[in-house]
Amino acid sequence: MTNIILLGPPGAGKGTQARYLVESRRMVQLSTGDMLREAQTSGTEMGKKVAAIMAEGKLVTDQIVIGLIREKLQDTSHGGFIFDGFPRTLAQADALERLLREMHLKLDAVIEMQVDDDALVARITGRSTCGGCGEVYHDQTKPWPEDGKCANCGSTDVQRRADDNEDSLKTRLMEYYKKTSPLIGYYYAKGNLQRLDGLASIEEVRKSMAWIMGE
Ligand code: AP5
Repeated sequence: MTNIILLGPPGAGKGTQARYLVESRRMVQLSTGDMLREAQTSGTEMGKKVAAIMAEGKLVTDQIVIGLIREKLQDTSHGGFIFDGFPRTLAQADALERLLREMHLKLDAVIEMQVDDDALVARITGRSTCGGCGEVYHDQTKPWPEDGKCANCGSTDVQRRADDNEDSLKTRLMEYYKKTSPLIGYYYAKGNLQRLDGLASIEEVRKSMAWIMGE
């Protein structure tokens, strides 16, 4: 069982690589972004609050996301956890350490995906996702098949996220630099940090990831 954190700004390619690891290594993707988007559809007061915070590009409270992760750590019958978009603050990193200790689990690597800000704008504003299976596409680099059907599941449900616009992205990047990037030093000091070039092609990033994970 291998447990990793994917660390990087919005659009670094965390979700794209996580999906591949789920298929190839039977790992479980714990994306707090996906969990929060699911919570929005519940119609509860909490869901409405979360929707407003996310559309603006700000971070949801530590208490809410730590609660979501805690629930998911119970099942360990798989190839390991991919923490995608969690932790995002030092408080979340400390909470994760405590939760892993309680579950007798260890963290094998924290993979920082390095991408410069200019590339992120193009990636985020061109992204779409399949509503059927979550496959991630991009208008230029990985366009939807010409027949309009997802190459993975055949669905025609093309979705674009409410926060995938330049205004929200500015706030998301600011949140990343203020609150999440200190985690780079935190995990470096713990000896877990590995870095890769997130500007390389999806295939090249995949190979770097496999090398880090000892394949
Ligand atoms: P979340 O859903 O986690 O979004 P994010 O971190 O902003 O990351 P993204 O999903 O936008 O990007 P990604 O790195 O997964 O890139 P992708 O692979 O899709 O969080 C959303 C919001 O939820 C936050 O703003 C916050 O409000 C809240 N939230 C979530 N977690 C939280 C937490 N822990 N605490 C508090 N609040 C939280 O790729 C992007 C595009 O680029 C795609 O089109 C893809 O095809 C393309 N692409 C990917 N890799 C490459 C490549 N190598 N070359 C070329 N194109 C590529």
